[in-house]
Amino acid sequence: MTDTKNTDISASSLSEFMNDLYSKYKSLRTGAVADYIPELAKVNPDLFSICTVTVNGDVLQVGDFEHLFTIQSISKVFVHGLALEDHGRDYVLKRVGVEPTGDAFNSIILDEQSKRPYNPMVNAGAIATTGLIKGKGATERLNRLLEMFQRYVGKDVFVDISVFTSERSTGHRNRAMAYLMLNFGMIDGQIDESLDLYFQQCAVMVNCRDLAVMAAALANKGVNPLTKEQAVDSQYIKDILSVMYTCGMYNFAGEWAYKVGLPAKSGVSGGIIAVVPGQMGIAVFSPLLDARGNSIRGVKVCEELSQQFGLHLFDCVDRRLPHAMLRNEAS
Ligand code: DON
Repeated sequence: MTDTKNTDISASSLSEFMNDLYSKYKSLRTGAVADYIPELAKVNPDLFSICTVTVNGDVLQVGDFEHLFTIQSISKVFVHGLALEDHGRDYVLKRVGVEPTGDAFNSIILDEQSKRPYNPMVNAGAIATTGLIKGKGATERLNRLLEMFQRYVGKDVFVDISVFTSERSTGHRNRAMAYLMLNFGMIDGQIDESLDLYFQQCAVMVNCRDLAVMAAALANKGVNPLTKEQAVDSQYIKDILSVMYTCGMYNFAGEWAYKVGLPAKSGVSGGIIAVVPGQMGIAVFSPLLDARGNSIRGVKVCEELSQQFGLHLFDCVDRRLPHAMLRNEAS
């Protein structure tokens, strides 16, 4: 456990609670690792880490927080942000809706009236969003995506080629969705290029700490709290967070909103990020998934953190996170 800045008692209570959660759930081994992308099935199921980063840049981390894994669906949040920057809100809304589906992440359904995919968090919507990323050709588009991720993480990021090729050679369902959307004019003709870009964004390598920094940037008006770089235009933070809140956990989004009450996103490699607006980013990594594709330990840790520190957005209990408590105490 590392506490890079805070030494106050409130930071200690968060740190202590994270350690307790780590010990409590380390022995929980229910669930299964994702294996529909063959390369993901090779992961060690015991890996587990919890990390928080405040908007002041205070980092708390426990477990395997340096272990690199592919970001998978968590990438959809950040690519949605880049599509909004590239085209603006109105244009993106014409191509992808903002309605939760109540269906699985890979469901092949489009809105009957508009023919749009329902939202940018399900695979169909994410493929359409990736299709909107600007650039002259595949290399420039990939470079723009990687530069965007680098702004959030604060260091160079790379694509795991084995996972990328593994998904590219088995992702027939995603390919089918792309052709269905091409049929309805919801994406343009560069299907293979955009699908490759989608598979590449899912195969970007991060660790649990990186994810917490990325979530903290979303909590901090789009500014990376460690590098102070603007990762995304702050005007789009409300778009990104509201879609995360209603759609980020797929067919678990309602129960998550009820119990945890924070904008969040999961990925099939076992990551979950949650954003406490104005306060901090939370990330959990544990590859054992439930039937909906969400990390089992990740969900439990977020539920308990939210409950313990009163993080639910609609919680009326007057509790705040450590740095905010410090400000209140000083005034
Ligand atoms: O498109 C896919 O199936 C994967 N690359 C990403 C899916 C994913 O992470 C869903 N989230 N729980």
